[in-house]
Amino acid sequence: MWVEITALNQIPESDILKVKVEGISLILNRQGTNVTCYRNACTHLEYPIDMGKVSDGIITCPFHKFRYKLDTGKCLNSPDFLESYPVKIEGDRVFVEID
Ligand code: FES
Repeated sequence: MWVEITALNQIPESDILKVKVEGISLILNRQGTNVTCYRNACTHLEYPIDMGKVSDGIITCPFHKFRYKLDTGKCLNSPDFLESYPVKIEGDRVFVEID
């Protein structure tokens, strides 16, 4: 099911927006009009990564410093990816698909 999350301009370009949808903690990132959404859980020990520092489109987990590209979710320290959710934009509204 698609869930309306927020307006496009509420998602910061150089940071992430943390939201809770259907009991799932998510992070959203925007680079221009390209928005990505991931579960707020590091692939290392599943700790939340929303307090991580964002720089150059990369978020660094605050716990043990695993780094992730926010455009793809790819971890730069392991073969893993952040768990991603489909995003669609209609007008200026952002929707995420939750199972
Ligand atoms: S929980 Fe994120 S690096 Fe360990």
